[in-house]
Amino acid sequence: MKINGTPYRTIWLAKDGKTVEIIDQTRLPHELVVMALRSLDDAARSIKDMWVRGAPLIGATAAYGMALAAVGDASDAGLERAYQVLHATRPTAINLKWALDEMMAALKTLPVGERIGAAYQRAAEICDEDSAQNAALGEHGAAIIAEHHKAKRRTINILTHCNAGWLATVDWGTALAPVYKAFDSGIPLHVWVDETRPRNQGASLTARELNWHGVPHTVIADNTGGHLMQHGMVDLCIVGTDRTTRNGDVCNKIGTYLKALAARDNDVPFYVGLPSPTIDWTVADGVREIPIEERSAREQTHIFGRTEDGQVCEVQVTPDGSPAVNYGFDVTPARLVTGLITERGVCEASPEGLRGLFPERA
Ligand code: MRU
Repeated sequence: MKINGTPYRTIWLAKDGKTVEIIDQTRLPHELVVMALRSLDDAARSIKDMWVRGAPLIGATAAYGMALAAVGDASDAGLERAYQVLHATRPTAINLKWALDEMMAALKTLPVGERIGAAYQRAAEICDEDSAQNAALGEHGAAIIAEHHKAKRRTINILTHCNAGWLATVDWGTALAPVYKAFDSGIPLHVWVDETRPRNQGASLTARELNWHGVPHTVIADNTGGHLMQHGMVDLCIVGTDRTTRNGDVCNKIGTYLKALAARDNDVPFYVGLPSPTIDWTVADGVREIPIEERSAREQTHIFGRTEDGQVCEVQVTPDGSPAVNYGFDVTPARLVTGLITERGVCEASPEGLRGLFPERA
């Protein structure tokens, strides 16, 4: 992705070949600040405090976290401790465990002296694989947008929730990869961006990256989607996912389920973009089996923003003494999903659909 003409990924290795650099997403949309990660603790904090977020980017950061840990202690005990520290950072996105397991598989059979180099190499591969998978799923998703355009011969309106764009991955995004591919091929489109309270990933991150890329978009309050769908103002929804079960249940940012219900009631297709590391083949029933992150109630009771003179401010919106609860994710049952857009193509959200694309997992 380019920012003002300069190509960026969301995570990369610094020139010293050891330090990992990331874009601090808590400073967006107002400032582009690069942070250096120099230790296991830096990597863990960057995930927990959401300097990086989005399932694939959490996985990529955890992979580099293992490499940073190996520099300090590449013994079996050191790697095991790093695995546990990183795994404890956030509970819902399965890409975190996937990446940690990949790193362990690449390292544990090697002599200790070879582990640091191998760790940096596997982490870099995980980043490249994520970028390639998202680019491929973007092509498959763009074909869907192109079909809508061919049928309707006008601007295609796409609704998305949270940020499942370039900033949530190493490159391209998941829900937004089809948008970028379609836009770049000249298909006229417009994106409705759910603000995504309480952390506003839509308003601050999705709008930021669509704006950088020049994609027409409009930020809407989270409860607007149903109204737009009733009035024919949404042609399709595309969202990302933090974990999709082998049955096709989709766990994503809180509020996704309500959009899927509104889409079903209004015959609006509801698609999910996901690279295969986001599929949890060990889980069948998403509602009962996926752990849902609960974050601080303060994210709900307060709103963060910037004053016109650039000062960061935090404003309380609830009365003192009113309790608040902050569930981070919900599960959209497979029956509400029109299709899963993966790097291998588009499939039905069902065990048969997923096994058809990934027969090696059958
Ligand atoms: O809490 P976040 O910001 O990490 O949640 C991100 C999402 O819910 C995304 O939609 C999901 O990770 C898909 S990312 C391509």
